[in-house]
Amino acid sequence: MVGIRPLKKIWVDGRLVDWDDARVHVLTHGLHYGYAVFEGIRCHETPKGPAIFRLPEHTDRFLNSAKVYRMKLPFDREEINQACIDVVRANGVPTTYLRPIAFSGYGEMGLDPTKSPVQVAVVNFEWGAYLGDAGAEKGIRATVSSWMRIDSRSLPPQAKCAANYANSALAKMEAISAGYDEAILLNSTGVVAEGPGENIFRVIKDVVSTPPASSGILRGITRDSVIRFLKDEHLTFQRTDFTREELFTSDELFYTGTAAGVMPIREVDGRPIGTGNYPITKRLRQRYEGAIHGRLPEYESWLTYVR
Ligand SMILES: Cc1ncc(COP(=O)(O)O)c(C=O)c1O
Repeated sequence: MVGIRPLKKIWVDGRLVDWDDARVHVLTHGLHYGYAVFEGIRCHETPKGPAIFRLPEHTDRFLNSAKVYRMKLPFDREEINQACIDVVRANGVPTTYLRPIAFSGYGEMGLDPTKSPVQVAVVNFEWGAYLGDAGAEKGIRATVSSWMRIDSRSLPPQAKCAANYANSALAKMEAISAGYDEAILLNSTGVVAEGPGENIFRVIKDVVSTPPASSGILRGITRDSVIRFLKDEHLTFQRTDFTREELFTSDELFYTGTAAGVMPIREVDGRPIGTGNYPITKRLRQRYEGAIHGRLPEYESWLTYVR
């Protein structure tokens, strides 16, 4: 079963190749040891044509992830930005998810990745609302995972490395098999960290909070956008830890992420969250949707038009 509709072209190591020709060898080093860094970016239709949301910030995070892993990319910031633009143009589909990835390629086996060449690819494909359109309306059901979020003493959570997502996949599968939509992971100190592929926010008495970067999270670019929206909405915001039980007693809870957008959580482990109305989450979601679709001029500087 292949869920991804093939488009025309994929950018691989500096050139656009046909979709079916973007292949790797089974001895690709990164496939065996998880030594790959990647990004998730979205491009949307706007009144001025397709636009990539916060491309420079995603490219910077991509380059920083590579730096943490001492991965020397044979392309610079401008070339990666241009690769993203080129692949969207070449495929001619305005609403897509972009996945830049850098990985240790086919060279040597063994744990030292520096003996294998670094390969870079950028692919875009159609990907709808990650947790479903119904989730955005009604809110989704989440469970606190029995898996602990990776810790910066073992795998740095702020570097978006493929290996991190084995931890995310364990939490995600556990949540799905228990009948929930998504997981919430606690960190090594027992406080809330994030979802498997989303940051998390809590609203209590009109104060909005999210765990700080030091709590073992990925510094989400959607999280950063929402922090700006909170300022613009004149809402009180705190970067602060919260506990598992404080999830249950929240007035509102929501995830943020490029894949998920701004996604309300209506239940955690059988406890309904708040009244089931999400006035603040809805306002933030509306602003986010307005920003990504180019309807709000105050956020237009976040758009990279591809035409
Ligand atoms: C572990 C994790 N946390 C948070 C996020 C949200 O980050 P962003 O808003 O940049 O997509 C992601 C998605 O990339 C993620 O994988």
